[in-house]
Formats: sequence, structure tokens, C-alpha cells
Amino acid sequence: MDSVEKKESAERKKTIFSGVQPSGNLTIGNYIGAIRNWTLLQNEYNCIYCVVDMHAITVRQIPAELRRRTYETLAIYIAAGLDPEKNILFVQSHVPAHAVLSWDLGCFTMFGELSRMTQFKDKSQKNADNINAGLFTYPVLMAADILLYQADLVPVGLDQKQHLELARDIAVRFNNTFGDTFTVPDGYIPKTGMKIMSLADPSKKMSKSDSNPNASVGILDGYDDIIRKFRRAVTDSDTVVRYADGKDGINNLMTIYSCFTGKSFEEIEKEFDGKGYGDFKSAVGETVADSLKPLREKFTALMKDKAYLEDIMRMGAENASRIAARTVSKVHRKLGFAQLK
Ligand code: TYM
Repeated sequence: MDSVEKKESAERKKTIFSGVQPSGNLTIGNYIGAIRNWTLLQNEYNCIYCVVDMHAITVRQIPAELRRRTYETLAIYIAAGLDPEKNILFVQSHVPAHAVLSWDLGCFTMFGELSRMTQFKDKSQKNADNINAGLFTYPVLMAADILLYQADLVPVGLDQKQHLELARDIAVRFNNTFGDTFTVPDGYIPKTGMKIMSLADPSKKMSKSDSNPNASVGILDGYDDIIRKFRRAVTDSDTVVRYADGKDGINNLMTIYSCFTGKSFEEIEKEFDGKGYGDFKSAVGETVADSLKPLREKFTALMKDKAYLEDIMRMGAENASRIAARTVSKVHRKLGFAQLK
């Protein structure tokens, strides 16, 4: 890099990439761990947010549902406050470069590395009749997503940390072999809310693929449903609202309440001093239901305008493709592929 390039690169806004799979009803875990933080970062960074539909097919999907959820996920991004003029919002399958780079990077990823991925082990257990190659190579596609855009920062929940570390390892390996090619990305994992737990079993992560409807709270769940689910949340036999070891259910509810109100655990303990779990659960439910109400209303309006969502998808795919093509061309030159001018 010459000095002008160095100056330009220092002045360049950093790039963020992240995504959500349209594989189920998005939960408040997805919101707190990821989407909410994306909205907070959109002014300081060049942000690229993707609906990762290609990741979703590693588990069988009903095609009509996958299509509907793809629109819904994009609408949630916008309804949560992501400005489509400021951010690149797009659908993964609209930019074939993801699959192309994924193949290239797969040749720089070891079988042993992929075998160690805990999410692969979990998902193989849950889908024992369909342990397909895509499920195994899923983290390579995720690395391609991130590295295509030379992302500096990747805001995700804790469950994606291992995948992110693999993406970094792949980038470093490629750079060491072929010279500086990829930006090595850092994770951006929130301190509070990095792992929201199931309301039915607080030792398990809240997940959009959980078959128990009471385990997770959907971003789009109705007002009364949200309150009911929090009232039923599994806690413990203690009665005092305080954050402590062994109180996984209460710790989880305190974390959720803290994320939606900005209050510290100490403040929450004071607020509910002398009150029981019932009052606390109702307060958490009402706060979450109230906070998500504007998002739900905006979502409903957006879903009525498919043409608008398609315009965003089209514009996002064009902008993303332009950036992605630059990286693919650089990688292919380095790999020794013959390139036609
Ligand atoms: P996915 O679709 O499972 O989840 C989307 C985001 O939500 C976070 N998350 C949670 N955070 C806190 N508590 C929870 N209970 C919780 N559940 C989910 C996830 O950490 C994630 O940030 N592989 C990714 C999608 C992906 C991606 C990428 C992300 C594909 N390519 C590139 C970042 C960069 C996934 O399955 O997320």
C-alpha cells in the first residue's frame, strides 16, 4: 500500500456483515443477539445485512414457507429500523458469488476443522436422517459470506463464535499462502444478551427451530401471546428476583428485561425488591410486548407491499454483487484461474 492508499483505508468506514436464516419464526434471541445491534451500528459502519436462504436449505424446508420467510425476514430487518438506503439489504441466493467463493474456500478448510463444529454435531443429532454435505460445509459458506465483503466486524450471538473463528482461520490461511487477500474479521458479540435461553428449558438456547411454541418468543408474536409465554416461563423455587448461579430462568428473564429497558441487574433487583416472580414475569412480558409493538405494526404494513420489498432485494443484490465480484476476481487471479478480460 502506498501512503495515499493507507490514508484512504484509514478513512474508510469499516464494513459490517451479518445475516439471519429464514428457517423459522425469528425470536427475541435473534433480535437481542443480532438485529437490534445491527440497527445501532448502521451510522458508523458500511453495513451489509443478508437473508441467508442458502444456509436454510441445509435442513429440509417447505419451499413456499422458505419463500414467505425470506420476505418476512427482510421486512423484519426494515421494521426493526435498518434503513435500506443506508445499508445493503439483500438475499443470499441472489448473489451467486457466495456459492463460488464457498467452493474456493472449501479447498482451504480441513475436514477435521469442520468435524469439530459444535453446531454441526447438534444439528446432525437433530436431523439424523439428513446429515447432508451442506450441513457439514455450512461454516465454509458462512466464511464466504463474510470474506466476500472484506468485513471488519460481524455482529452475532454467542452461538456463532466458533463459526466466526473458523472464518478468521480460513482468511489467515489464504492470506499466508497468497498474500493479503481478505480482511480478517472480528466478532461483535453483545455482553448482555449474547445467549438468550429457552423459556421452557433455561439450560437450552432459545431457538427459532424449537418445536415447543412456549420455548421461544417470536418477534412477531401477538401482544397477549408474549405476555402469556413469559407468565409460563420456567423459573426456580426461590422467590427473590436476583441474578445468581443456579437461577438460570430468572437470570434469563433479567437479561431480557435489561436488554429491553437498559436497566442494570442491580436496578432490576431493586425494582422488584419485595415482589414475587409473578409480578416480575408480568413486567418482563409487558415490556417486551410493548417494545415490539411498533416493529410488528411496521412489519404488517411492509408485508402488504411486496413490490417495495422486491425493489429493496433487487437494489441490495446489485450493490452486493458489485463488491462480491471484486473479491472473487482477486481470489481467482491469485488461485491461478485463467481470467477473460
Ligand atoms: P441464525 O439464523 O441461527 O441466527 C441469527 C442471529 O441471531 C443470533 N442468535 C441469538 N443470539 C442470542 N440468543 C439467542 N438465543 C440466539 N439465537 C440466535 C445468532 O447468533 C445470529 O447472530 N449461521 C448464522 C447465519 C449466518 C451468518 C453469516 C451470520 C450465515 N452467514 C455471516 C453472520 C455472518 C445463523 O445460523 O444464524
